Amino acid sequence: MAASEQEPAQYDALGERYAGFKRTRGNAPEEPAVRALLGDLSGARVLDVACGFGRYTRLAMEAGAARAEGVDVSAEMVALARQEEERSPTGAVYHRHDATALPVLGVFDVAVAVWLFNYAEDPGRMADMFRGIRANLAPGGRLVAVTVHPGYDPADPDRQPAGARVTAGRPGARGTALVVEFPVEPPVVLACTRWDADVYEQSARQAGFTDLTWHPVRNPAPEAPGREDPFTAALVCA
Ligand SMILES: C[S@@+](CC[C@H](N)C(=O)[O-])C[C@H]1O[C@@H](n2cnc3c(N)ncnc32)[C@H](O)[C@@H]1O
Repeated sequence: MAASEQEPAQYDALGERYAGFKRTRGNAPEEPAVRALLGDLSGARVLDVACGFGRYTRLAMEAGAARAEGVDVSAEMVALARQEEERSPTGAVYHRHDATALPVLGVFDVAVAVWLFNYAEDPGRMADMFRGIRANLAPGGRLVAVTVHPGYDPADPDRQPAGARVTAGRPGARGTALVVEFPVEPPVVLACTRWDADVYEQSARQAGFTDLTWHPVRNPAPEAPGREDPFTAALVCA
């Protein structure tokens, strides 16, 4: 599947099945890394872009943020996040927007984007995402992103993610289209892209970020303690 065949709203058809899978213990292995990179959120204003069912929006409120707003392109995911908020209120607020055309929703100290940029359909749309996020940040604000590791090699059997099956299209000039299948019944199947590091870096710099740092994400699973996740990387931009 070519990167351009990705559907921005592919999550509309998955909704609860995706959320159910990710809520299962061990199926969000990036969470400890995200928590560590976010650091102390007391009093912070947090924007969670591609919030899905609100995992990190809620986490921010629970960690003492003054305000946390989640944004997602999928009406279904926004509805799930709002339902969760109704069931167990934290004060998180949700909006439906495409991150490639994000309006200025306010002034935020921290933006989170966990599994957003791998859904950019091309480098231009990735640049639009970074620009929209930057426009929502206060001076000195930072972005914590988690995405497909730019060095991930779908052909290397020793570097496969735990708990998912990945198949790949032909590598393109700056990335490789991937199909990721999570083993639930019926399976959750998602199309995304492994973009090269320079696609992120150029897009982020064009948007005005000057300080970019890649971080490894270590698998917290007891059977692979401390092993660097070959599929996942974090990028912090300020
Ligand atoms: C893998 S889920 C991650 C959700 C959440 N960040 C988490 O980690 O639980 C990816 C989310 O990105 C959203 N998404 C994909 N493309 C998007 C876009 N262009 N703008 C906003 N959200 C997008 C999807 O609808 C989906 O909810």
